[in-house]
Amino acid sequence: MSLDAVLAQIDKDLPAAAERLLDLLRIKSISTDPAFKSDCDAAADWLVADLQGLGIDAQKRPTPGRPMVVGHVGPENGKPHLLFYGHYDVQPVDPLNLWDRDPFDPAIEETEAGTVIRGRGAADDKGQLMTFVEAFRAWKEVNGEWPCRITFFFEGEEESGSPSLVPFMEEHAEELRADFAMICDTGMFQSRTPAITTMLRGLLGEELTITAPSKDLHSGMFGGIAMNPVRVLSRIIAALHDDQGRITVPGFYDGVPELSDELEAQWQGLAFDHAGFLGDVGLSQPAGEQDRTPLEMIWSRPTCEVNGIGGGYQGDGFKTVLPSQASAKISFRLVGDQDPLLIRENFRKMVEDMLPVDCTVEWKGHGASRASGTATDDPAFAKALKALSDEWNVPAAYIGCGGSIPIAGHFHSILGTPPMLIGFGKDDDQIHSPNEKYDMESFHKGIRSWARILDALT
Ligand code: BES
Ligand code: ZN
Repeated sequence: MSLDAVLAQIDKDLPAAAERLLDLLRIKSISTDPAFKSDCDAAADWLVADLQGLGIDAQKRPTPGRPMVVGHVGPENGKPHLLFYGHYDVQPVDPLNLWDRDPFDPAIEETEAGTVIRGRGAADDKGQLMTFVEAFRAWKEVNGEWPCRITFFFEGEEESGSPSLVPFMEEHAEELRADFAMICDTGMFQSRTPAITTMLRGLLGEELTITAPSKDLHSGMFGGIAMNPVRVLSRIIAALHDDQGRITVPGFYDGVPELSDELEAQWQGLAFDHAGFLGDVGLSQPAGEQDRTPLEMIWSRPTCEVNGIGGGYQGDGFKTVLPSQASAKISFRLVGDQDPLLIRENFRKMVEDMLPVDCTVEWKGHGASRASGTATDDPAFAKALKALSDEWNVPAAYIGCGGSIPIAGHFHSILGTPPMLIGFGKDDDQIHSPNEKYDMESFHKGIRSWARILDALT
């Protein structure tokens, strides 16, 4: 009875909810760039004010990096204590020239595929975190009270490797411990099937700069005799995969499990359309390990990818230069029990062993998190799955995710709180890319989904 009223309230309030999201999207909370530090503060302040407006005891909590937002509300009434997590920080916007509008002047746009909310952070993760905030707003409006003990936990460093997260969680473990940690930062399966994500890959980020000559040189005067660091770097990068697509870092596959028969059967049942998935981005052939299925490649196998490479002249025109330095940013997605720190050590040693004379390498590490998985035997998972199926009129699925959300593993290891990952992103949301968007359908039905889940779990 009251669920129907909450759903009706959500429908009625949708335009106002979208306006609130646009407000939050206008804040340039890019966490990786120190130039946007005060914008991150502003986003945290915005969220604190919004939660306080709902009568929630919420505060901005300082860290050595970007602030956390923590809020508590609701009775300890024997119902599960639910924590809700999202991140208010966003990725940098470059390349800016590929955006069709200012990334921080968001708008609701009508497209051939439906209504979308366009702007940096629309899907990752401001639009998603507002789905549960809006669900609570409607719940409170209709019922006048909270269904259980609820904790809100918003982070502002997720996109930059969460450097302050573990110390904060350890220091505030008592305060943050809950029965379930609901994380809204993932997507649906093939953009149509609502899903609970039960596997996330870990991430190791490595940046290396190779220096050969002590200064940039004329490539005619010195070319042929001087060591070129771009050539050295290219040879190293080319050696990271063998002809079968396997990664050659020593010991890399230690701790990588084979897919269980049960998961293999379940994934086959999902009937993943890899041709469509690749076709949408102008590709046709899976390019990972040759003997693996497409779903394994994105969910359960580890990767090594070059995310950026630089050296020499990059401007317009042509310059005959033999550069002094070459650099690359390389990420490894990790699965199972792969140990990020051991892989870092082995990777660095492999590169250093390949360096010719006169070359030096400098290293910068960018986060190191393990893969994480969630057991789904607690009945709460089946209840949430049913709530999702009811809202979307499609049976919901348990899925994997190729991306990384380090906090999912930390909830488990630091707090003993099982994470439940539910999000409404779609494959074409262009997260981390120009023209990021969140479908109005994801936003609207996402809010409604949380109301149903709340009803089912309390
Ligand atoms: N929301 C994403 C994770 C994600 C990616 C979920 C793709 C579903 C599909 C998250 O914000 C993210 O991008 N995480 C980073 C982690 C990193 C910077 C430590 C990632 O996966 O690259
Ligand atoms: Zn995210």
